[in-house]
Parts: sequence; C-alpha cells; structure tokens
Amino acid sequence: MYKTKDLSIDFLCIHLDSPFILSAAPPTDELDMAYNGLKAGWAGVILKTTSVEDNPVNLKNPMMSSFGSMSNKVVGLGNIDLISQFHINDIEERVKYLKKEFPGKMIASSIMGASKEDWQNLVWRLKKAGVDLIECSFSCPQGSMGEEAGRMLAQSIEATEKVTRWVKEAADKTPVLIKITPQVTDIVEVAKAVKRAGADGITASNTIPSLLGVDIHTFEPYPNLFGEGSYSGLSGPAIKPITLRTIAEIAKNVDIIISGNGGAFNWRDAVEFMAVGSSNVQFCTLPMHFGFRTIRDLKSGMAHYLQEMGFSSPMDIVGKALPKIKSQEDLVNPESRSEINIDKCIGCGLCYTACQDGGHMAISWNSDTRRPSVDEEKCTGCAMCMQVCPVDVINMKEKLDGKVHYFSETR
Ligand SMILES: Cc1cc2nc3c(=O)[nH]c(=O)nc-3n(C[C@H](O)[C@H](O)[C@H](O)COP(=O)(O)O)c2cc1C
Repeated sequence: MYKTKDLSIDFLCIHLDSPFILSAAPPTDELDMAYNGLKAGWAGVILKTTSVEDNPVNLKNPMMSSFGSMSNKVVGLGNIDLISQFHINDIEERVKYLKKEFPGKMIASSIMGASKEDWQNLVWRLKKAGVDLIECSFSCPQGSMGEEAGRMLAQSIEATEKVTRWVKEAADKTPVLIKITPQVTDIVEVAKAVKRAGADGITASNTIPSLLGVDIHTFEPYPNLFGEGSYSGLSGPAIKPITLRTIAEIAKNVDIIISGNGGAFNWRDAVEFMAVGSSNVQFCTLPMHFGFRTIRDLKSGMAHYLQEMGFSSPMDIVGKALPKIKSQEDLVNPESRSEINIDKCIGCGLCYTACQDGGHMAISWNSDTRRPSVDEEKCTGCAMCMQVCPVDVINMKEKLDGKVHYFSETR
C-alpha cells in the first residue's frame, strides 16, 4: 500500500492540488461541465476561449472526426471548433461562481481578441471577476481574429510579441500564459518573443493543423459537412511526440514556465511532459473520451510513481530528462546489436519480416522451429525489430568502451 502523496504544486504563485488541469476546450465550455470536472478532482480549469460580445461566433457541426488504429478507435481526434459560443459576459459570471464554489482550485480563462481594445477589455473584465490566470489562444488551427485573421497568431513572432505586451500590460500581476503552436520554423524564437513581452509562461502547445481523412469512394473529406470538409486541429495520443519535442526545445533554451498540453493520455505521459520541462499538464481529449473520472487514475498513478522514485513532489520530476536530450551529432556511437529472448519469443515472425525488408537482412527464420535468429555480423543494431515485436522480447545490446548497456523501451 502506498501513502497518499501530497501532489500539490505551486504554479505561478497559484496553489494546485495536483499538476492536472482541464484545458480550454469542450470539457470547460458549459458551466456545469467545469463544475463537474472540479468536483471530480481536477486541480483547475481553463474555461474555453471566450471573446467580446460583438464577436460573431460561427461554429460548424459536425465538428469532430478521428482516426484510429486496430486497437484504438481514437488515436487522434480532429476538430474544427474555434471558440466558445459563450461571450465574456457569461464567462465573468462563471468565474465568480466557480471561485466561490471552489476557492482552492485554479479558475482560469482562455481569451482571443481582434484588436488591442478587445484583448485588454477581456483581461480587465476577467481580472475584475477574480480569475486566477489568463491563457491567450494564439494557436487555434482555425485561425486568429483581427489583422492575423485566418492564420495562427503564434506563427508570427512580431504579432506574438505585440499582442503579448498588450495582454500583459492589462493583466499586470495576474499571470498570463501564451498558448503557442509547434507548427513554426523555430519554436525557440517564438518562446523568446513571449518572454521578451513579459508573459509569465507558455502553454506548449495546442492541437496541430491536419486533414483527418478522405472518403475514398466519394472523395469527401472528414469531418463531412454535407459533402465538404476542412482542416482540423489534431489532438490526443497522436500528437504527444510533437508536444514532447516542443516542450523540451523551449525548456532547454528559454527560462520560462511551461504548462504542457497536447497528447497526454495517462499519468505516465504526464511524467514525461514534466521530465522534459513542463510544470503541470493540461488535458482535453482524455476527459472528452473517458470522462472526468480519469483524474483518479492520474493522481493515483502519479502518487505511486513519486513513492517508487523517492520523490517528494511532482516538481522533482521537472526537467529531469533535459540534460540527456542531445543533438544527433553529439550522441555517442555504441556498437549495437539486437538480442532476442528466444525463451519468451512467440514465433510471430514480425521481426524477421521487418529486418528482411526494412532493416539489414540480419534476422533469419527457422521454419521448423518457427523462431528467428540474429546474425551479429550483419546486424547494425538499428532497432527496427524491437519496434515491431508485439511481446517486447527484443532488446538492443550496446557496447561502448568495454561497457555494456541494454536498451529497451517501456511504454
Ligand atoms: C473540440 C475541441 C475544442 C477546442 N477548443 C479550444 C479552445 O477554444 N481554445 C483553446 O485554446 N484550445 C482549444 N482546444 C485545444 C485543447 O485545449 C488542447 O490544447 C488540445 O486538445 C490538445 O490537448 P489534448 O491532446 O489533451 O486534447 C480544443 C480542443 C478540442 C478537441
């Protein structure tokens, strides 16, 4: 049995009872949903992106589509959602209400404006309502408003810096997070612009622009709105590796607080996000798919993990992996060979096929015993066989300067 660990953290001077937050998205769009999420145990909510009253909201439905794999229907979720149908006048009231009902939780709101006046008005009104933190959506794949209409504001370094200054000027001491997109040439330059402009932190990142699919008989794209479709923002497990890289790049190069978001689906993902530099983790697709109750497993998994690792706080994880992330040319070059644990091999032949047609033809197949074997002379240790082994009985044996190291992947 494990003792319940204290999972609380301090995030931009806001007390969070765990590092797990509901991101600006459908789970925080209805007041009752935000309420239910907080009641279920999430540490805070970022209310879905709101705008000033005269901003016309033009949402199209069906707005969701997805793609899957053989074992998982939703590997990636696409949406053409843009912004909340609820304007700032509703959100002000919700912030006041949620602050009263949940004084120990973080009540934040996401905003998007078309002009300096809009951005600053949104901030002033949220501050007056008592919001704990403001997140600025600079990265909705459906585009921004105002002069950057149709493209993501965070794709322009100048616009990012300019609008961040406007927001921070109005926010003053209220913490501001800028939600950016990984779809830029140089994420570090964007993060530097956010820091220069005085923001307190970065949300890294958001959904990623995508096209979810095309019906091969009608050639109609997904989501299908009467025969036509559009580009979607992709979320869920499919984008986790992109988010990990985005967080790591920023954390390695810019001294700024990061809130990790995009593809986290369980507590292990959250640990990885924090290990590459985020201080907390936001979730959207997970609670949309499996419900607010997922917070229970996130907390219990994190508590077990902290105990197992001898950490006293989730903050002990932050940045732990960063010193080990190097550029490819700075990596050592061990002598690497595939090692198959034949006693546990199920004889499926997948490693043999992959090595024959996608590796270096180093694995041969004995059709009498139905077992593979590795030719050490031919094996370059590329690890393709390890990727396809369904029962994880292949490791890479690495040798460097007389020392041996085994590489296996636990996912
Ligand atoms: C249907 C839908 C609507 C969303 N609406 C917003 C929004 O209004 N503002 C925003 O900043 N992000 C919005 N997001 C993005 C999420 O907050 C989150 O950044 C993204 O889904 C990646 O996280 P995940 O992989 O945990 O879902 C939306 C996501 C989805 C799926």
